[in-house]
Amino acid sequence: MKRIYSLLCFFLIVTGINAQESNKLIVDATSGNVVINKNIYGHFAEHLGRCIYDGIWVGKDSKIPNINGYRTDIINALKDMKIPVLRWPGGCFADTYHWMDGIGPENKRAKMMNYHWGGVVENNTFGTNEFLNLCEMLGCDPYISANVGSGSVVEMTQWIEYMNSDKDVPMANLRRQNGREKPWNVKYMGIGNESWGCGGGMTPDYYVNLLRNYSEMAGIYGQWKLQQIGCGANGADYNWTDVVMKQRPGGISGLSLHYYTIAGQGWGDKSPATGFEKKYYFSGLQNALKINDLVEKHSAIMDKYDPKKQVGLMVDEWGIWTDVEPGTEPGFLFQQNSIRDALIASVTLNVFNNHADRVKMANIAQTINVLQSVILTEGNKMVLTPTYYVFKMFNVHQDAKLLSSQLISEDYEMDGKKIPALSSSVSQDKNGNIHVSVSNLNPDKEVTLSVELVGKMFDKVRSASVLTAPEYNSFNSFDKPDVVKPADFKNFKKTGPSTLQITLPSKSVMVLELQ
Ligand code: AHR
Repeated sequence: MKRIYSLLCFFLIVTGINAQESNKLIVDATSGNVVINKNIYGHFAEHLGRCIYDGIWVGKDSKIPNINGYRTDIINALKDMKIPVLRWPGGCFADTYHWMDGIGPENKRAKMMNYHWGGVVENNTFGTNEFLNLCEMLGCDPYISANVGSGSVVEMTQWIEYMNSDKDVPMANLRRQNGREKPWNVKYMGIGNESWGCGGGMTPDYYVNLLRNYSEMAGIYGQWKLQQIGCGANGADYNWTDVVMKQRPGGISGLSLHYYTIAGQGWGDKSPATGFEKKYYFSGLQNALKINDLVEKHSAIMDKYDPKKQVGLMVDEWGIWTDVEPGTEPGFLFQQNSIRDALIASVTLNVFNNHADRVKMANIAQTINVLQSVILTEGNKMVLTPTYYVFKMFNVHQDAKLLSSQLISEDYEMDGKKIPALSSSVSQDKNGNIHVSVSNLNPDKEVTLSVELVGKMFDKVRSASVLTAPEYNSFNSFDKPDVVKPADFKNFKKTGPSTLQITLPSKSVMVLELQ
């Protein structure tokens, strides 16, 4: 930080630029000690509404094209987006889930009530084998959420043995009986979900004792190879982070955080997903930007107990939560997705990139047909949402080195309130190419930005793409799936050996590569 500050001062003195008057992104091209963990681009799929059934799984006998029961279109789209990690089976569902109900011959599997989501009966057709095989097909890491709310240590340790043991032991043999010889070697396991709420209504002191117990046993059964993620705070509950970090067991390598953006005044005024007024556009972005403060404050508490940053902050549920689509089951949380939501995704991912020293994973809620989805389905149709395109454009940051940067931005003002108009992050990939992502949140005005690399020259802009839309609330529907999609971006000018000027359209997300 000190280094970028002195570079910034140096730059301002040399060029004589008045920071107040310019939109400027100054990048320290000699930095790069922190890697942006690809898992920041992770996803979350719960047994909720039509996320799993219809969204991912249609069964082998479906008329919808599928590979062993998984929708072909979805598999291709998720691979193309480069999904790195997928969290399952919940969410609130996870703390009512008993994994043994979801293994073995399909017609013999026990049914259960999905108490949280629509009160439907879950037939457990999609279980552990189906989920872990899905992750193998996608080439992503599975992140299993263990049941602490209504489960037991025995149940969790047996699950670990079923998934990860290659020995002649009962659970590994049960897996073999179910047709799978080799273990899946699951890397990530969450110990409870929202244990302060739907996962058991616990206080942090009570939870941290349970965490110590579950963690020790998960460590033993997982031979200390599993990365365990403790249940973290609900939004700004800093006391939770403090108590859990202070007394955490040594086996924990991550602590979660959940933060949902509500665009209106609260749960009773969430904003529709489409056709919303501009005030919901502004406050949606304003509330999404609060994640920066949450990440910084939780990180500061974690720094106190873990100065070497060995425990990652895992934001394993985030995204905008709007009203459900009219006429759909309220408990299924099916919502459309607009350019506003794409901008929310872009500013959130920029925040995570810029805090990659502490944020090691994040999982947007939820992959398909639920909340801020990247894909929506209807029968055999599929539509890629504006949020999908942000994840695809930003995948260049996965496992790249974060370059420190300083952004000076004008404001976007509405009704006397203001937020910065611009949001950005910068990284350098293993080939040395630099990727700059910038969003212009102003829905009414294009914005010009100067970019300066300090300590490095570049030859050219090798490629650039932009995502924007006709209106501030435009979206892709099954009838008009291409209203919001990326296009080549040309509105830039190289102004010197290490400088560039970019003019961003209103309400846009842009990613460019410097070579
Ligand atoms: O993502 C929907 C729900 O939101 C999850 O099940 C729960 O963890 C959170 O409250």
